[in-house]
Amino acid sequence: MKHYLSIKDIDSLPDWVSEARKLKEQPNAHKTLGEGKTICLLFFNNSLRTRLSTQKAAMNLGLDVMIMNFGSEGWQLEFEDGVVMDQGKSEHIKEAAKVVSQFCDIVAIRAFASLTDKEKDEAEVVLNGFVKQASIPVVNMESSVGHPLQALADAITIAEQNTKARPKIVLSWAPHPKALPHAVANSFIEMMQLQDADFVITHPKGYELNPEIIKDIKVEYDQKKACENADFVYVKNWSSYKEYGKILSQDSNWMMTQEKLGSSKFMHCLPVRRNVVVQDAVLDSEQSLTIEQANNRTFAAQVVLKKILSPLTPKGGIKNNLL
Ligand code: CP
Repeated sequence: MKHYLSIKDIDSLPDWVSEARKLKEQPNAHKTLGEGKTICLLFFNNSLRTRLSTQKAAMNLGLDVMIMNFGSEGWQLEFEDGVVMDQGKSEHIKEAAKVVSQFCDIVAIRAFASLTDKEKDEAEVVLNGFVKQASIPVVNMESSVGHPLQALADAITIAEQNTKARPKIVLSWAPHPKALPHAVANSFIEMMQLQDADFVITHPKGYELNPEIIKDIKVEYDQKKACENADFVYVKNWSSYKEYGKILSQDSNWMMTQEKLGSSKFMHCLPVRRNVVVQDAVLDSEQSLTIEQANNRTFAAQVVLKKILSPLTPKGGIKNNLL
């Protein structure tokens, strides 16, 4: 596999989930795969889980890891061609990506949506800038429109917990004081489209996601009705897609409560705002899968890195004949 940019890069979700679960049982079984190779994690935005789990996954595979908070420590990058760079931006992606490619064998990028310019966000300027200009595989650690490592971890978590042939899974919007991107919801939906489930999305009117991602998935505007008899309820805030990046509602009636959850399992990618997005009682209950979802981020990243590493030749080295 060359890059992991979106859920579309998964050729068989059941196979990937099964491989991740094997890696979870024996995390160090492929410790020599990354020997002599380096991954560079570039963060244009904050992170706890993605940073630590991707680093842990890389270490489990024997990779050396370099991490840079590019947003605060790197030069401000220019992504447009032919620009006279006499303003605030000091370095062009053309040089930056090529330089990074000299130091490592894989680069992973986190670059959130601006939520101010839909066209630019959907063009995935930062992620695709590295894909175009770097000469090494690129991994998406959450871009403007997708968070495929999170969605793969969520698929692993559902597979571990599911007891039914066709579970009912609900994706519910919840209130939040800040305008948040659509990436987690988008990738979760794309991942769900690869599963056999009774999948329902619920949100207030005005929060419809990109119709090209939703396709024919059922949207139920009554949250209580949507959650009835659910096996898993995945809660996430996102800002409006139509009125791009706007907060249209902060209605606390959409907060997930024990009453609405019933006996369903609760899922959230974290970080989560307690008693805004979800009640304490839910997060502190046995029904919450959030900590295991975070744990599974390591094995989602590990399966991705393992697939990328398998055909790779170390920088300045000779391809291992055993690979
Ligand atoms: N879920 C997730 O991506 O967490 P971080 O933003 O902390 O990496």
